[in-house]
Amino acid sequence: MAPSGMPHVIITGGSSGIGLTVARLYRARGARVTLIARGAGLLDEALALLGTGETAAEAADVADRAALEAAIVRATERFGPCTILVSSAGIVEPGAFADQPADLFDRQIAVNLTGTANAVRAVLPSMRQAGGGRIMLVSSGAGLIGIHGYAGYCASKYALRGYAGALRSELKASGIAVSICYPPDTQTPQFVRELASRPPEAQVIMGTVKPVEAESVARGIVGAIDTGRFETFFTPTLWALARLGPLAAPLINAVFDRQIAVLGKRNRRS
Ligand SMILES: NC(=O)c1ccc[n+]([C@@H]2O[C@H](COP(=O)([O-])OP(=O)(O)OC[C@H]3O[C@@H](n4cnc5c(N)ncnc54)[C@H](OP(=O)(O)O)[C@@H]3O)[C@@H](O)[C@H]2O)c1
Repeated sequence: MAPSGMPHVIITGGSSGIGLTVARLYRARGARVTLIARGAGLLDEALALLGTGETAAEAADVADRAALEAAIVRATERFGPCTILVSSAGIVEPGAFADQPADLFDRQIAVNLTGTANAVRAVLPSMRQAGGGRIMLVSSGAGLIGIHGYAGYCASKYALRGYAGALRSELKASGIAVSICYPPDTQTPQFVRELASRPPEAQVIMGTVKPVEAESVARGIVGAIDTGRFETFFTPTLWALARLGPLAAPLINAVFDRQIAVLGKRNRRS
């Protein structure tokens, strides 16, 4: 068992993108870091980047509850109780709901929502043992507004907001602070893959916003964990969507519907 005092940060999705950048920031502070993801190749590359000493990797699918629990038990035996969990593992499968195989919808819920709950459930005994902790859930701007072609993804990321709200209240008395963040489009390998299959109807809406760097999202995440802030939005637009979205929804929907109708007309003409 590792000596107490040094944070042990467990990051699901820690082998790439936002999760890997958060891992780098914590390693720079001297924290012990465990990365969890499925692919051994990316995990090995991440370990090479971060240096092995106080960094370790566990290969597990967050949707596989037993495998994830076993990975987190091994991690806590190695580095001590988990004091910070960053749940960043996530997938996105753009496509019209009616045309998409049901498996793709189910898989987004299984990874993004159930996978997050699996990770939280698995670290709770260890956080209680440590007398407290911090949990950060990575949702998305797509958890604040319904986007054409993202039904499964939006459903999973919206659900995280309700989950985080309930969890925050339940865990507060145990000294475990729950946070959630809603990144906008962010320059990561997932974003590059997503763009290739983003429906044009979504691109007319989302393509107008410049993606942010993973570094600035990761800094926002670490800052929110430091202060125990509940919600982080990264941009004024996402803040406004979260705070005023339900009021503004009829107007926003009307603007988006018109843009999509114009696109449809243009496509029919060409
Ligand atoms: N990039 C964006 O524009 C953006 C915007 C808003 C929100 N987000 C959210 O931010 C989080 C990180 O995204 P990212 O852009 O950094 O993606 P990324 O670069 O593709 O990284 C995703 C990470 O999650 C892991 N992962 C995926 N499925 C997994 C599973 N079933 N079990 C365990 N690990 C899994 C991946 O490794 P393996 O594939 O090897 O498992 C990888 O380490 C996601 O939750 C995403 O929805 C991203």
